[in-house]
Amino acid sequence: MSIIDQLATIEATALAALAIISDAEALADWKSSVLGKQGSIAKLSRELGTLPASDRPAAGQRFNAVRTALDSAFAEREAIISASALQSAFANEAVDVTMPGRQPVVGRLHPSTRVLRMITDIFAEMGFQVWESPEVETDTLNFGLLNIPADHPARDMWDTFYIDTPPGAEKVLLRTHTSPGQIHAMRAHAPNPVRVILPGKCYRYEQVTTRHEMMFHQVEGLAVGKHITFSDLKGTLIGFAERLYGAGTKTRFRPSYFPFTEPSVELDVECFLCKGSGCRVCKHSGWLEVSGAGMVHPDVLRNGGYDPAVYSGFAFGMGPERITMLRHGIDDIRWFFSGDERFLQQFV
Ligand code: PHE
Repeated sequence: MSIIDQLATIEATALAALAIISDAEALADWKSSVLGKQGSIAKLSRELGTLPASDRPAAGQRFNAVRTALDSAFAEREAIISASALQSAFANEAVDVTMPGRQPVVGRLHPSTRVLRMITDIFAEMGFQVWESPEVETDTLNFGLLNIPADHPARDMWDTFYIDTPPGAEKVLLRTHTSPGQIHAMRAHAPNPVRVILPGKCYRYEQVTTRHEMMFHQVEGLAVGKHITFSDLKGTLIGFAERLYGAGTKTRFRPSYFPFTEPSVELDVECFLCKGSGCRVCKHSGWLEVSGAGMVHPDVLRNGGYDPAVYSGFAFGMGPERITMLRHGIDDIRWFFSGDERFLQQFV
């Protein structure tokens, strides 16, 4: 085959190969294997010297023409490939400006905190001051000064987390209720009148169940002064229930027992769900237990620094988790401190 025929074959093969190239890498390979220094055209051109001198100018022109043709075919292909690369980049990286934005995750208050705040707001409006009291207490403050001596059967009501202390030293514990705060608040105010609520965490060494947690909140209330009567206690708690559950909410007081109040009562509120006719939430009684309460026991008043012949007072204690469970139909207290976002996200 003559050089010119070989050249024609190379040109035809190269153009056919070029026509089906679709990516930049294959295109670069094509360029070096056809038009490069070691490419097929360059290799063949080295054989031009073997031609008779009279044939060389025409053959040289033919080579130039083929090279020019292949150069321009290459440039055309390159333009097509880069345009389609750009198109697919546009398609892949397109931003749909009509898509809704991603919502930033916003923190929210824990349901216990929300109900605690609702409760403190209601009592704040009635003139109660929020008073803080420690979670780590002495045995004396948690029990003894509240009329619960070491051998008192009432101690069976609370299973306690004790903290290791040296032998002979005063026993230290995690408070089992917010009531030791009564003593702190009285001692800080006596003999002046005091009207406080004490919200906070309490701890009990309990078998954890759907209804019992080792840690939970309480809100304690205390009012001490001259001429404070049981009517004041009733008025305060009825007013509270109406603020929490709506005006006209029915309430009832049942006799109860706490060592640090005398007399003692339990406040029930008419079930907000069934309005007293009986349902699952109120266990078909029509009533919900909301708070333990009573008139501060004379011994406790004395321990707080008030003369019970001159001063009197009332106290109450309630559990915000229980109130939240009833409000939202939550059937397991363990959800509260499980840290499970699926639970927490429901409280917007
Ligand atoms: N401390 C009691 C409890 O934990 C509640 C209570 C507080 C009762 C104040 C009467 C007065 O059950």
